[in-house]
Amino acid sequence: MSTTRDPFGWSKRAHPRLFIPGPTEVRPDVLEAQAELMIGHRTPELEALFARVQAQARQLFFTNSRVYITASSGMGLQEAAIRNGVRERVICFVNGAFSQRWADVAEGCGKQVVRVEVEWGQPITPDLVAEALREHGPADAITVVHNETSTGVISPVDRIAAAVHDVSPDTLIFVDAVSSFAGTPIYFDEWGLDVCLTSSQKALACPPGLALGAVSDRVLERAKSVSGRGWYFDFLLLEKYLQRNTTPATPAISLLRALHTQLTYILEVEGIEARFARHRRLAEMTWAWVQSRGFDFFAAEDYRSPTVTAVTNTRNVDVNALNAFLKARGMVISNGYGPLKGRTFRIAHMGDTTVEEMQYLLDTIDEFLGASK
Ligand SMILES: Cc1ncc(COP(=O)(O)O)c(C=O)c1O
Repeated sequence: MSTTRDPFGWSKRAHPRLFIPGPTEVRPDVLEAQAELMIGHRTPELEALFARVQAQARQLFFTNSRVYITASSGMGLQEAAIRNGVRERVICFVNGAFSQRWADVAEGCGKQVVRVEVEWGQPITPDLVAEALREHGPADAITVVHNETSTGVISPVDRIAAAVHDVSPDTLIFVDAVSSFAGTPIYFDEWGLDVCLTSSQKALACPPGLALGAVSDRVLERAKSVSGRGWYFDFLLLEKYLQRNTTPATPAISLLRALHTQLTYILEVEGIEARFARHRRLAEMTWAWVQSRGFDFFAAEDYRSPTVTAVTNTRNVDVNALNAFLKARGMVISNGYGPLKGRTFRIAHMGDTTVEEMQYLLDTIDEFLGASK
């Protein structure tokens, strides 16, 4: 691998190259797509764009169902899932900051929330889900975060969904795939999910501001009997407009253009499978580096995220000093999330990052470690 100093010219730029778990680096052609001249939103041009993006998004979710694309961040669709699908009770599985937040959202929506908590760093398992449904059911829905960005843990959503279908078939399955979607496969139809949501600014590598959510027929059926769905995120209203390839409120037209450019790149230039394979390779490079440098993983073995690694700081590295060193060379990583700050640091390997870029980051961290021995 090249040891050329600054092979990408990053240190000469004011902008640090993002190796943080979102927002991720956005390619210039995707950024430039946002600068096109504006069009009216009640026009055939907008409808054509929306229809194209819709079809592309369905391919990435591996679904024949609809995908709502909202002018919000991912949290908007966490709230939408609750408001549309939960009449009374929801069981929220909590193993990190973002799953905790979903439980907070459900409480904020006035629902009866059962929190099933596991230690941070551990996954949500199918057995735990089955047991919770037996103990606390019936529940209108469960929530689970596929990839806990705070801890670098991925949970086996395919097997979790199978457990729910088995134990409590009427319970809807809501999945947050904010930091896994487009980095690892999510087979919405095959796994039998009901809502699977993501944000534009993570492995999709688009600017922040859009959320995408695949939604099953079962949720729309449920929504008819749920009151207090609100207006902006009312799935029945979104569905009515989606039939005409548009949205009830003004869509984020520039962001849709960026998304269209990026989805075209993913589907037609890189290829979905190649994208997943590249993410896997970046993760494996990072894991090998962590092990060989005497660090540890915060995530339980076998449940390490393919898009972000939370490194347990066993060498007591000064993470702020490390990031200052990286920034001087035009790169940035993340400290640990909230209470894990300093105890862990996070290296994101998601989006459009190449093997060479990843290697350069790891080499530069090595340089810091050598310098601070
Ligand atoms: C797993 C997960 N869920 C939800 C969110 C919140 O997403 P957004 O900021 O797009 O609302 C994040 C943000 O980092 C996340 O990592």
